Amino acid sequence: MAIQKPRGTEDILPGQAEAWQYVERKAREWFARYRYREIRTPLFEHTELFQRGVGETTDIVEKEMYTFADRKGRSLTLRPEGTAGVVRAFVEHKLYAEPDVVKLYYLGPMFRYERPQAGRQRQFHQIGVEAFGSADPRLDAEVMELAWRIFTDLGVQHLRLDVNSVGCPMCRPRHRQALVEHLAGVKDELCPDCQSRLVRNPLRVLDCKQERCQELTQDAPTVLDHLCDACRAHFDAVRKALEALGVPYAVNPRLVRGLDYYTQTAFEFVVEGEGHLAGTICGGGRYNGLVAELGGPDVPGIGFAFGVERLLYVLAAQGTRLPADAGLDCFVIALGEAAKGEALVLAQRLRAAGLSADVDYLDRKLKAQFKVADRYGARFAAILGDDELARGVVQLKNLATGEQEAVPLADVAEAVRQRLNRSEG
Ligand code: HAM
Repeated sequence: MAIQKPRGTEDILPGQAEAWQYVERKAREWFARYRYREIRTPLFEHTELFQRGVGETTDIVEKEMYTFADRKGRSLTLRPEGTAGVVRAFVEHKLYAEPDVVKLYYLGPMFRYERPQAGRQRQFHQIGVEAFGSADPRLDAEVMELAWRIFTDLGVQHLRLDVNSVGCPMCRPRHRQALVEHLAGVKDELCPDCQSRLVRNPLRVLDCKQERCQELTQDAPTVLDHLCDACRAHFDAVRKALEALGVPYAVNPRLVRGLDYYTQTAFEFVVEGEGHLAGTICGGGRYNGLVAELGGPDVPGIGFAFGVERLLYVLAAQGTRLPADAGLDCFVIALGEAAKGEALVLAQRLRAAGLSADVDYLDRKLKAQFKVADRYGARFAAILGDDELARGVVQLKNLATGEQEAVPLADVAEAVRQRLNRSEG
């Protein structure tokens, strides 16, 4: 029996990969404009990094990690998210020694053992940024604005930015107490996970996906009601900066992120719509304690990550067309033995001139070769028979218009390029 891909993974096939490249290219362009530079960290890390970074009581660490022992018995984990690894690298390579705000971006696969469904995989891809070294609320706003730019540039519709403040170690104990008191009365009705969360990390109860728990926490006190003065001032300044930048947003006091490292600003980009279409495509926030938690100096950070599968899913569902296949500039059609040899050389010359070109390797007849050119989305066909060979020309045919003319062999690349430029202009 043929082997199939593991559940929750996807093959990104030719014809689909073009949309991925397009999204990646757009993101890289925007990142460069905001002075973000790329960082690539390992796909697996020491398990402890995520336990300490993401948080022991999060769903990710409790249930969703791909953890394994290597041959020497060390516990390693496929990264479930990008932030912890980037912070580790930031500390390990002392990037904090730079006197400036350090702006980093990354893209690549992440791994979570979740129940697969539309827009949720076990191997999925994130594109994200992390900015270190400033607690300025304007940076929070700029980070959100960057994500918003990318999504609007890609044509995402019905986008909503939810913003909240989850406070700091100063204000959280007050909220924690109010929350525990509020939930004490309904404790027995909470799911078993939440009953344990209530003791270990009550804020996590607000993040439970069980419907009953969500109902029970509907009127629970929010962190926003318990912010200390500094966090309140920070939040107000973030809002002001978002407004100055013209980024539409909604304050959502019930927004709790699924990772423990956040302080103050937390946000999500949600696409509104029916059923499956509704969902979070991007999450992020500030994490002022994480660098120190992972052994570095007390340097604040903020970032976001969006899911590429989810973004592409939303775009497809909204009917946005993305590039599928780039096609081919020129297909070289050869008739006869001598012409076949020359066709390969002509293709070589076209490619060297920066054009995309291919030839027939399957000994097809003329008509069949035209069909191939069509299938490849070729814009031009260069037809080379014995007669053309003797005269040192090809018949260059524009496959869109049907126009055809003889062009000297040495000039084919230039002729194709000129005609392509003309049709583009
Ligand atoms: P997160 O909210 O866990 O945040 O994930 C960010 C995004 O990754 C989600 O909004 C979603 O689009 C996508 N995503 C997550 N899990 C899956 C899945 N199983 N299948 C498909 N897509 C998924 C983080 O990971 C943080 N590290 C973001 C961050 C960066 N915060 C600060 N800096």
